[in-house]
Amino acid sequence: MARVVFEPIGEEIECGENESVLDASFRQGYSLVHGCREGQCSACKAYLLEGEVVLKPYSSFALSESEEEQGYTLLCRAMPEEDLVVELLHFDPEDYRAEHPIREGAASVAGIEELTHDISRLVLSIEEPEDFDYRPGHYVDLVIPGSEDRRSFSMANLPGDGRIELIIKRYEGGRFSGLLEDGELKAGDRLGFVGPYGAFHLREGERPVLMVAGGSGMAPQLALLRQMARDGHDGPVRFFYGARSRADLFSIEEIEQLGAQIDDFEFTPVLSDEDWEGAGGLVHEAVSSYLEEGGLGDDLEAYLCGPPPMVEAATEMLIDVRGVDPKQIHFDKFTTAVAAGDTEQEAGFR
Ligand SMILES: Cc1cc2nc3c(=O)[nH]c(=O)nc-3n(C[C@H](O)[C@H](O)[C@H](O)COP(=O)(O)OP(=O)(O)OC[C@H]3O[C@@H](n4cnc5c(N)ncnc54)[C@H](O)[C@@H]3O)c2cc1C
Ligand code: FES
Repeated sequence: MARVVFEPIGEEIECGENESVLDASFRQGYSLVHGCREGQCSACKAYLLEGEVVLKPYSSFALSESEEEQGYTLLCRAMPEEDLVVELLHFDPEDYRAEHPIREGAASVAGIEELTHDISRLVLSIEEPEDFDYRPGHYVDLVIPGSEDRRSFSMANLPGDGRIELIIKRYEGGRFSGLLEDGELKAGDRLGFVGPYGAFHLREGERPVLMVAGGSGMAPQLALLRQMARDGHDGPVRFFYGARSRADLFSIEEIEQLGAQIDDFEFTPVLSDEDWEGAGGLVHEAVSSYLEEGGLGDDLEAYLCGPPPMVEAATEMLIDVRGVDPKQIHFDKFTTAVAAGDTEQEAGFR
């Protein structure tokens, strides 16, 4: 058992053998900033002030060799070899205690609906725990039937109605999403889940809100929109959604209805492969032009969700071009689990 002290908050936890610092922190009621929990997204990056760690496999996109040499580490991969002092790079001083315990649960499939040619809505009815609760923006891990492997999916609905609503991009041959593609998953089927996880949620305050999503990255953004429509929100909210063509757009009517309940809301679909009257090109470029024209000012709170390249391009633009404070940029990269059989090397892992 090693002791791990987190600076600058001064909290201390115990970390077991073969346990990652992030898992140990969950077990002891902390919710440090995290994303994929698999060494791929870099959300849990921290600085080792004292002590040595062994790292489980991780992607060099999340932690480069030179960063590791300088003392940076990934808390979801780091297993202490001795007592540690860790400097948290991203943390909210008001908000590092877990509000909702991470629990195992079971649910049954209540409905599956095709939203586009490759995106489906999966609605689950929660059987246990009956009081399962989470923050809008959080995600759950679903257990792939017949295995112990899990896949992460963000909840699109607000908590409290006994359901979990997911928006899932279907990949042919995908171990979980493929079950939707070939109709193997049916109403009434039972699924195990674990959660809630995630650090993506609406921050308090009056800064203008910029939301950027692509593909199934719509899911947690819908949860935030539903929250703002329910609770009210002061100040402007701008939602840019990137897609290839009109055929990839969905839930537009609902977004408009939710937007009508928010004082100052605009929704901009951005199509990359089709000319139309809306914005064109890549979504981060459309956002950049909007901000360049003075859209929201640069002191904003940004929420980015979807494919990692989209999230990375938008983050880079916001920090390097607009000078947005990284603490005001919140993201979930929808990284893919490394497929069984892939070597860590082939998958960009170290
Ligand atoms: C925090 C978090 C939240 C997430 N939330 C969502 C969500 O709300 N909705 C959602 O649809 N997904 C979400 N994901 C991604 C999801 O967890 C799975 O990785 C994805 O559904 C693929 O799983 P699979 O089992 O179907 O495919 P796998 O069996 O894991 O993959 C099979 C093959 O399909 C291809 N493939 C799979 N995923 C991708 C991809 N993203 N891009 C390109 N090729 C791919 C690859 O070739 C891969 O080898 C999230 C991921 C994270 C980390
Ligand atoms: S790299 Fe650690 S949470 Fe994603």
